[in-house]
Amino acid sequence: MTNEQLIIEAKKAREHAYVPYSKFQVGAALLTKDGKLYHGCNIENAAYGPTNCAERTAFFKAVYDGEREFEKIAIVGGPQGDEADVLCAPCGVCRQVMMEFCNPKTFKIVLADGKDKWIERTLEEMLPFGFGPENLK
Ligand code: THU
Repeated sequence: MTNEQLIIEAKKAREHAYVPYSKFQVGAALLTKDGKLYHGCNIENAAYGPTNCAERTAFFKAVYDGEREFEKIAIVGGPQGDEADVLCAPCGVCRQVMMEFCNPKTFKIVLADGKDKWIERTLEEMLPFGFGPENLK
């Protein structure tokens, strides 16, 4: 699947966001190594802290299904009702969740806006010197 196709899926996921507080909708589309696709959206909470980001929603759905090997994720985010016009970077907690399940040298993060701009970075570029399962072996 191309990055452009994955971004279209992230935009679809964004429509599912539950964001009564921030009104900032984020969608993610996560591709497994064997080609399965998982969508995620941000899900907010009145107590704020329990809010789950779009990226983690996608990962947790996939991990529940037994998936453990991932190729890339596309992320699109912006104010509700608008086309996202800036790139939405994953928060530190989401980067750490990626570190649990992904090879930082090969897993790719595609940041996209609502138009046709996107960039791709490895997890290692987004989370240098990350702490992960290898550190506990
Ligand atoms: N958010 C995400 O879902 N992913 C990101 O990469 C950044 C932030 C959400 C959390 C919250 O619901 C809203 O965006 C504003 O922070």
